[in-house]
Amino acid sequence: MNTCELIIKKRGGGELTRGEIEYLIGGYVDGTIPDYQISALLMAIYYKGLSERETLDLTRAMIASGDTLDLTQISGVKVDKHSTGGVGDKTSLVLCPMLAACGIKIAKMSGRGLGFTGGTIDKLESFPGLTTAIDGERFLRQANEVGMVIAGQTAHLVPADKKLYALRDVTGTVDIMPLIVSSIMSKKLASGADVIVLDVKTGSGAFMKAEADAFELARQMVALGKNASKKCVAVVSDMDEPLGHFVGNALEVREAIAVLQGESGGNLRELCLTLGTQALREAGIAPDDADARRRLEESVASGAALRKFAEFVKAQGGDERAVFDTSLLPQAGVRLELAAPEAGFVSHIEADGVGQVCIALGGGRETKDSPIDLSVGVELPKKVGDRVEKGETLAVIYANDEARARAAGEKLRACYRFSAEAPEKKPFIRGIVR
Ligand code: URA
Repeated sequence: MNTCELIIKKRGGGELTRGEIEYLIGGYVDGTIPDYQISALLMAIYYKGLSERETLDLTRAMIASGDTLDLTQISGVKVDKHSTGGVGDKTSLVLCPMLAACGIKIAKMSGRGLGFTGGTIDKLESFPGLTTAIDGERFLRQANEVGMVIAGQTAHLVPADKKLYALRDVTGTVDIMPLIVSSIMSKKLASGADVIVLDVKTGSGAFMKAEADAFELARQMVALGKNASKKCVAVVSDMDEPLGHFVGNALEVREAIAVLQGESGGNLRELCLTLGTQALREAGIAPDDADARRRLEESVASGAALRKFAEFVKAQGGDERAVFDTSLLPQAGVRLELAAPEAGFVSHIEADGVGQVCIALGGGRETKDSPIDLSVGVELPKKVGDRVEKGETLAVIYANDEARARAAGEKLRACYRFSAEAPEKKPFIRGIVR
């Protein structure tokens, strides 16, 4: 087969056969097809799409590119959760300990930041000493003993996604539905959990901006999961403004800890309770939604979820004292308040713009191998629907460089819109796809 001819075929809107997809993925993983040809192919897919059959074949080829995990040695029901990516999305850091405290086994692979969105692995690395390079045996042991393990994708599990994910991040090819479906589902299916809970975002801070696309993404992923005999459910929620009040790796860890400590938590807590309810129902642990929700709330109120989180951090080599004293997490040297330019109601906060501000501060990657600054980010005390007076603090920038902080301030101001009347708000949870 000839790679260039296949790029031209896709560029012209042709449908790739299963054999052609296997050739492309196999060649990319073994290094015989270079980044630049796959970049061109990704861009052709951006414009011409993939059929459901191509997406399924791509997912299968990606799973076949590496090992699959056998979790049968872990006792109990194994639940995996995955988000389609958002800004300020620290859901896993709250939900996983809540579920583990309710008796579920969380054996999860997570990713790094992608495009303007953050990643759980980057956030977890805010804990001094914490490693997410957990090998097979340790992974299983920790899941059994602690009930919760989160590892970075190993080189052996879906290596095709590891390479493609990093390449998509820097070639403007992240927001492509079939690539998101195959990226997420190949990892979830290769990871061997019994129940897969999908956190699908819609809005300006999501890859799927339109709600109809988010529901379609959810439908395709749930169908693929069921096809593979998994219990699979998706919750579609709003990502038109960032989730919660903080964006930036260590800042988000702090916010997650506050929710685990029982602080109100707003939409972040609501999302975790909704996802958790679905997980406990699908896992057969709770007979109905009300019982599931009560168990999750109790895990926070009793302190069990917070203790579980600390146990997890310690098991992964991290300094668990930082769970109880967040001043031990990375701290930025510069704090700059951004004043509201006018009085009124906040009517919109451009979530992807806020994500870009964090990248510009050094909190995300501009190229495949850029190091990141875990301490930087933004605080958003005023969210959509809140009233502000002119000059009142609208946002706070955390940086390590005055000039970068000021430049970020200009960009951040442009993410806000104001209105004289309180804006109409859509429900935060848009729906559940089973
Ligand atoms: N999360 C993933 O794992 N892959 C994507 O493509 C997007 C979000």
